[in-house]
This record gives sequence, C-alpha cells and structure tokens, in this order.
Amino acid sequence: MDLKRELKKHAGLKAMHEEAVADISSAGTPDEVEDARVRHLGRKSGLSQLLRSIPELPDDEKPVVGKLGNQVRAALEQQLADRRRELEEGELSERLATEQVDITLPGQPFPRGHLHILTQTIWEIEDIFAGLGYRIAEGPDIETDYYNFTALNTPEGHPARSSHDTFFIEGQPDVLLRTHTSPVQIRVMEKEEPPVYVVVPGRVYRRDSDATHTPMFHQIEGLAVDRNITMGDLKGTLEMFVKAVFGADREIRLRPHFFPFTEPSVEIDVSCMICGGSGCRACKFIGWLEILGAGMVDPKVFGFVDYDTEDFQGFAFGMGVERIAMLKHGMTDLRMFYDNDLRLIRQF
Ligand code: PHE
Repeated sequence: MDLKRELKKHAGLKAMHEEAVADISSAGTPDEVEDARVRHLGRKSGLSQLLRSIPELPDDEKPVVGKLGNQVRAALEQQLADRRRELEEGELSERLATEQVDITLPGQPFPRGHLHILTQTIWEIEDIFAGLGYRIAEGPDIETDYYNFTALNTPEGHPARSSHDTFFIEGQPDVLLRTHTSPVQIRVMEKEEPPVYVVVPGRVYRRDSDATHTPMFHQIEGLAVDRNITMGDLKGTLEMFVKAVFGADREIRLRPHFFPFTEPSVEIDVSCMICGGSGCRACKFIGWLEILGAGMVDPKVFGFVDYDTEDFQGFAFGMGVERIAMLKHGMTDLRMFYDNDLRLIRQF
C-alpha cells in the first residue's frame, strides 16, 4: 500500500503527515525525537484529536480517516523509532571515538610484595620433609614450664630455666615464652600414637641480642618415632636434607653433644659451602659449619607421654631458620632479617 497516494484522499492528514515527517527528520538528539513524538502523536496532537473525533464525522468520512489515520500513526511511530536509534548509535560511536583510551601508554606501577626470605626458607624446609612423608605440626608460643622443660627431661637448676636466659610471664612462674620448638614434640606425642613423623616450624624466644642472636627467632623441629629407628636413620635423613638445601656436594659430620631430651645427642655440621671444606674465614678455617642439634629421643621423654620404649625408638632434631638462611645466602648479620630494609628484602 502506498501511503502517499492514499493520503491524497485527505488533505488534513496529508498536511499533518508531511509536517511530522519533516520535524522528525530534523530532530538532532534523542530528546528532540521525544519532543517531536509528543507534538505529533501525543494526546493533544492534531492526529490524536482527529482520531478521537471520528464518531462525529460524516459517515462516508469515518472509514477513510480511521484507516488512514492509524496508518499515519504507525508510519510516524516507525520513523520515530528509526530516528532515535540512528541518533543513539551516532552518540555511541562518537563517544567511542572521543573517549578512546590509549592502551599503549605505560600504566601506574602497582607495587607487589613477596614472601619474606624467612618464610621462603621455612616453606622450602617443610617441603623437603613433606616429601619424606612428614606432617607439619604447630604449638603455642606461650608455653608452660612443663612442656618447655620438665617433660623434656630438663631438670631443675638447668641454666635454661633461669630468668637470665628465658622470658617468663610476670606473676606466673610456670608460664613462659618457649625457648625452643621441642615442647611441640610432647604435645604431638600426647595426642597421637606412634608412628609419628612431624616437622614443627615456629617462633622461639631467648634473652639474647647480638649480631647472631635476636630475642625472637625461628626454629624447625623434627620428630620421627617408629619401630626400629636407629641413629643411621637420623644421619641419612639429615644428610639428605642438607644436600637438598645446600647442594648435592655438601657433606655432614656428627659431633657428640648434650641435650637433656636426646641420648645420645649430636650437633651436625655441614662442609663449608664457601671453601668446600679446605678452610676459610666463613668457617673460621675449620671447614665445617654447625647447623643443627639432634639425637635419639631419650626414653625418659617417652615415659612422660606413655610411649612403649621397648617397641618404639625415635630421633629428633632442631634447627634455627635464620642460621640456615644466613649460611645459604652468605649473610653476616642476623638482625638484617628484621630491619625491613627493602634493599635486602628485594634480593630474595
Ligand atoms: N631444642 C634444641 C635447641 O633449641 C635443639 C634440638 C631439638 C636438639 C631436637 C635435639 C633434638 O637447642
């Protein structure tokens, strides 16, 4: 159907149509399109009024105006929708063009941290023992005298029990900051039946402060309890550990020592990673560096946790994390770990 030809039948509708078409085409924004809609199709528009007046029209005019009027309205609605979309798309492409971001410009750098060297060292050591089937266990930093000393077979009068070396909690003579991670040995064995294979990372506290001691430092404890455990297992385990941390060329040696809770006790040295064992300043010309204490669990300790000393044996070891990290990275002052100097921290 050709609307233009039809419109010749009604001069009034033809004029309204032409005026509206011109108006809508000249609308320059979506708001102007809306104004045009109100003007030409709104309740007060000529077209609406004409359509409302149909009942009063002469009978022969009613069908013409009714049919043609609605066609005009439909055509104008279509034109309004088209024009609105056209303008909106134009606005969008204009915004896309003007608000373009140059993604090739360098952005604002966002500083990103990383794990502290001590945390990295702890995780590395945990990983090595996890690979051997050890679990990770933890215990409280604030301990009782019983776990820190008594159950570890450390008698009254032992120097570590004096306030010269240990931080006690005021007014509570039995409560202290643990001086080593060994009390967690007792806590684990109280809860679990053997076999037990655990490593225990944690903070420990001693009244010490110089280039190689800070009042708080980190240890990793190890405990293995099973049937037929011998000193050979202790040596093989720690040799494997040392090679994993310091390199396959390193060797270890065991020196007799004393700890109240292991019998026999040893200190373990690693062949100097600087000179390879021939002697240098780092190893004080000895060729060996001390890295940890260890020994076979004293049966008296098993007595405190009701383990059967006929069936079970064990070994334990304890190492200072700071010391391992210092040796590994050739650092000379332990306090550097806690200075928060980014020049150091960023190197690891
Ligand atoms: N707890 C001891 C220390 O802090 C180290 C150690 C742990 C020795 C386990 C033997 C067995 O010096």
